[in-house]
Amino acid sequence: MATQVKKMAANAKHHVADMSLAKQGRDRILWADHDMPVLKAIRERFAKEKPLKGYRMSACLHVTAETANLMTTLKAGGADLVLVASNPLSTQDDVAAALVKYYGMRVYAIKGEDNKTYYQHLDAGMRFKPTITMDDGADLVHGLHTSHIKYSDKIIASLEETTTGVIRLRALEKEGNLRFPVFAVNDAETKHFFDNRYGTGQSTLDGIIRATDKLIAGSTIVVAGYGWCGKGFAMRASGHGANVIITEVNPVRALEAQMDGYRVMPMADAAPIGDVFCTVTGNMHVLRPEHFRKMKDGAYVCNSGHFDIELDLKGLKKMAKRVEKNVVPYIDRYTLPNKRTINIIAEGRLVNLGAAHGHPASVMDMSFATQALTTEYAIKHAKKLGVEVHKVPENLEQFIATLKLKTMGSKIDKLSPIQKKYLSSWTMGT
Ligand SMILES: NC(=O)c1ccc[n+]([C@@H]2O[C@H](COP(=O)([O-])OP(=O)(O)OC[C@H]3O[C@@H](n4cnc5c(N)ncnc54)[C@H](O)[C@@H]3O)[C@@H](O)[C@H]2O)c1
Repeated sequence: MATQVKKMAANAKHHVADMSLAKQGRDRILWADHDMPVLKAIRERFAKEKPLKGYRMSACLHVTAETANLMTTLKAGGADLVLVASNPLSTQDDVAAALVKYYGMRVYAIKGEDNKTYYQHLDAGMRFKPTITMDDGADLVHGLHTSHIKYSDKIIASLEETTTGVIRLRALEKEGNLRFPVFAVNDAETKHFFDNRYGTGQSTLDGIIRATDKLIAGSTIVVAGYGWCGKGFAMRASGHGANVIITEVNPVRALEAQMDGYRVMPMADAAPIGDVFCTVTGNMHVLRPEHFRKMKDGAYVCNSGHFDIELDLKGLKKMAKRVEKNVVPYIDRYTLPNKRTINIIAEGRLVNLGAAHGHPASVMDMSFATQALTTEYAIKHAKKLGVEVHKVPENLEQFIATLKLKTMGSKIDKLSPIQKKYLSSWTMGT
């Protein structure tokens, strides 16, 4: 689905698909903003206090309406910003155009961009010489540790949005090669409890339905990986009446899936049974030729993990006798020597962003509130931050959850003095 993109000039201030989409994009940004009250409250405070003034930020995120609202929040806080795509298929071109036209931002992102353009865009993010970076998958951090290492000395902190990115950062830290402090925003409860579980859960099913028009009730859906995203997706697919099968490599997670009521088995056994397969493991080659060979004719295969390498598409291509691109939007059909066909959705890239609109705004409200407040925290504490993978401070999470509950009209109880004392004692009540 690579789009024909106009060539990017070396010093281009932005690179987006079509500026005539800007108005539609602005409508979409404002629509999402209605469902992001926590971020809005932070934006209003940032506009008064300007806590990010004087900082240059490069963000490599999925360019969606929700991300646009994070960008306007950071800008309201005084940051000088660049936004680049974190995935070649996830950009909403109208949103990218609106950010340039109405919000005066430097955006480098085009839906369907080829690999070369993708890396040109990343390069623009690094050449901006940021002092803070924000990643969804650690691509900027990777560049700042390899090809663009010369810009890494200026970085005071980097924030990471997703599980796969945090895995890469921890590997870098373990090797002793991390060059600046990073925050594992993904690991905040206000992020992965909600975004990975409810956001990915709903939007992955949404992407599959939009691309296939398949009746989920009565279908057998195989979910590879019972982590936060896998749990969320399995729950939603099951709610639609699917028979859900889980494949796992972690016995505790597999047991959890079994006790949540799903069938658990190895992929080799699930391959001939499934109607729809979705990987969400953060691992590579979870579905490979030995599995594709066993699948039913017309099976649907997709991925909602960060990278498309969860599916061995090169292996599939090699074994296929015929590949038909876009037989219907978002579906490539591979015909195998045994005459069975496999339908790959959204080229194996994040199906919820490739074939649908990604997570609902209400859940991104919490993820991006966590990003905005952690950025402010990193600036305030820059001098004291060690070069390591940091957690988001708990008080920020409590603040976000409290505000979100309030916007949802819910209240909770408070600990009484005696309860507080009991919870910090080992002698009371025994
Ligand atoms: N689609 C989205 O919008 C979206 C949102 C958030 C996270 N993600 C991405 O989704 C992926 C999963 O994230 P998560 O937070 O659920 O991670 P997680 O660590 O909670 O769960 C991953 C699970 O996959 C299992 N696993 C690993 N290798 C496996 C294999 N070969 N077969 C079966 N299971 C295997 C692990 O044991 C683990 O239980 C990551 O790549 C993450 O970056 C995507």
